Amino acid sequence: MKSSEYSGFYKLPVEKRDKEIQEFAELTEEDVKTLLNFGSLGEETADRMIENVFAGHTLPVGLATNFVVNGKDYLVPMCIEEPSVVAAASNAAKIARKKGGFTAKTTAPLMIGQIQVVGIEPEKTEEKMNAVLEKKKGLLEFANTLDPILVKFGGGARDIEGKLLEHNNGKFILFHLVVDVRDAMGANAVNTMCEKLAPKIEELTGGSVVLRIISNLATKRMVRVSATFPKEDLGGEEAVDRIVDAYTLARETPYRAATHNKGIMNGIDAVVLATGNDWRAVEAGAHAYAAITGKYKPLTRWWKNDDGDLEGVLEVPMAVGLVGGATKTHPTAKVAVKILGVKTAQELSQVIGAVGLAQNFGALRALAMEGIQRGHMKLHARNIAVMAGAKGEQVDKVAAKMVEEKTIRVDKAKEILAGMQAQA
Ligand code: MEV
Repeated sequence: MKSSEYSGFYKLPVEKRDKEIQEFAELTEEDVKTLLNFGSLGEETADRMIENVFAGHTLPVGLATNFVVNGKDYLVPMCIEEPSVVAAASNAAKIARKKGGFTAKTTAPLMIGQIQVVGIEPEKTEEKMNAVLEKKKGLLEFANTLDPILVKFGGGARDIEGKLLEHNNGKFILFHLVVDVRDAMGANAVNTMCEKLAPKIEELTGGSVVLRIISNLATKRMVRVSATFPKEDLGGEEAVDRIVDAYTLARETPYRAATHNKGIMNGIDAVVLATGNDWRAVEAGAHAYAAITGKYKPLTRWWKNDDGDLEGVLEVPMAVGLVGGATKTHPTAKVAVKILGVKTAQELSQVIGAVGLAQNFGALRALAMEGIQRGHMKLHARNIAVMAGAKGEQVDKVAAKMVEEKTIRVDKAKEILAGMQAQA
């Protein structure tokens, strides 16, 4: 058994790292060649982004068409490995635009940083919390000296909230630092402010600060998107009723709500990823928000309006930025932002929200009407055909034959392919 213990792996140049991995995992020269393909990212940029880089990883970026959000047309890049998602979003947006498209609103881009103070005598916690809150103005002014650029762009620390919490060996104080992060995702600005405020808070309370970190449950940075889908395009009022019924199940059981929200995140994550944003942060925020009442719920609501059309609304925290991080360093992400033409992080979150709502509509409609598998299978069949070695025009032909014969498997694809090659 070879050892995975390694000292100084990070010091090696990328090619040498690959040589080491090649030896460990008995990779072929072809494998190593695959690893060294860094695509548009480039080896140097990749190597600066994370540690121990040894490969690039390319995912397809598809274009969702037809989107109108707040009266403006958008072409939306979506980075995702799952078939059907981009097609479903484009299709939903086409139907929504008949009623004016998506209407989206955002709150100010306010992020929350948490500062936890322990080690205060239980009977004094309230007094100590108030001692900090009384000095709020000065503390906020100090926090704002830490990020003059953010302040220059109209952002900055806005508020400090205090709360007393119980835990098994006493009480502690939790402060929420509220920061307007403008067009940044905000983690760096907020974490720096929290860390630098910590000693001042320790001084004022006589306690000890443990955690000082951003919260991904960004309830003060919300996007709300709504849209109307005309009944004529869905198959009449009966179809509207079925879609509303399908949604109702998500309201009633977390088992369905999880899948319902997964479909929403198919759309949201794909745009978040395409624009170089932190999709884990957005995911964490979305699911925590879905459970904020103590019961895990769907992130959307659907109903039939007075005209018999389908209306839906999505509400979700959306911590995405346009400055900093991979948004500014990943070449494809930079072009994706250009294609979107968004000027602010708030505008980006509105488009992302619209894609989430569109995706949910697409899934509910497919599930309520014909089931998801038919459309899915066509695309799945193409992937299987490629896996079986089909090239160019063969891909569609092999896929179509498998769908026709209702058997979508690699061995079947190989058999069809062999038949086609024998005839040629
Ligand atoms: C698959 O990736 C997503 C769906 O399961 C979502 C849903 O069921 O609503 C189709």
